[in-house]
Amino acid sequence: MENFLNAMPKAELHLHIEGTLEPELMFLLAERNGINLPYASVEQLKAAYDFGNLQDFLDLYYQGADVLQTEQDFYELTWAYIEHCRAQHVIHIEPFFDPQTHTDRGISFATVINGISRALDDAKKQFGMSSGLIMCFLRHLSEAQAFETLKQAQPHLDKIIGIGLDSSEQGHPPAKFERVFAKAKSMGLLLVAHAGEEGPAQNVIDALDMLHVDRIDHGVRASEDPQLIKRLVKEKIALTVCPLSNTRLKVFSDMSEHNILKMLDVGVKVTVNSDDPAYFGGYLTENFVALYHALDMSKEQALALCRNSFEYSFASPERKVEMV
Ligand code: HPA
Ligand code: ZN
Repeated sequence: MENFLNAMPKAELHLHIEGTLEPELMFLLAERNGINLPYASVEQLKAAYDFGNLQDFLDLYYQGADVLQTEQDFYELTWAYIEHCRAQHVIHIEPFFDPQTHTDRGISFATVINGISRALDDAKKQFGMSSGLIMCFLRHLSEAQAFETLKQAQPHLDKIIGIGLDSSEQGHPPAKFERVFAKAKSMGLLLVAHAGEEGPAQNVIDALDMLHVDRIDHGVRASEDPQLIKRLVKEKIALTVCPLSNTRLKVFSDMSEHNILKMLDVGVKVTVNSDDPAYFGGYLTENFVALYHALDMSKEQALALCRNSFEYSFASPERKVEMV
């Protein structure tokens, strides 16, 4: 079964590129860029990856991103992720990046996006891997800062397919970003938002009704509202679910408690994704394998999850036909 899960063609729709920064690369870039990490070794850093909640993780994730300084650093980060995708038969990817994490420490928007998109272009040329880059606003920052980031993205709109919303969900509901999402939509960008990860089902409803998103990232707490589940099924709204992330951040106490297959079986368009694989213990295959071990996922269920990823991806209609 593990071989089957690795070999089946997959797509990834919820992946933070900064969350693919493996400890070894973090140390290498720290040394290259003359940055002092507050850890003596890779082992000591890995030992710190024991999170009680989302915020515990975010604190380390933002700190880790400090080692990313040059366009080449962003290229190498992205290329390392692409190599994992190659090994796991991931044929289409829609990575997120968090420009504000970098521009707030003096790295230019162009440095970040040029490094990432050059790697994505090379993957397309060399392996035929298709992709679409999604720019996320950090929701713990202000609406004005999100507008400023959207302005910085203007000269680079050819490299971005959509915008997203990530970081601390508690205390930063969708309503805060209603106007900037409306502006992004008017610019022709697709829309996604993290909702119902740590926050309540109401955040999923508000992401749909106030932000008008095309997909929901996470959304697992939607299952607390049976009416909402009915709506997701009826309106065919896809959820980009991240099983290992949810257990590492204690959204579910154990993988055996995870609701993804229950949602799949009632007709919700759920997909499997790795979120921040360097921090949560695995890439896409490891997420599928974890569902197999804890929930006895069948081959049919695994294939249905992959089909959802292709169908609800933002790939062109022609590319979708090739993939499914
Ligand atoms: N949730 C919110 N923000 C994030 C995440 C996540 O799972 N990963 C990286 N930024
Ligand atoms: Zn995420």
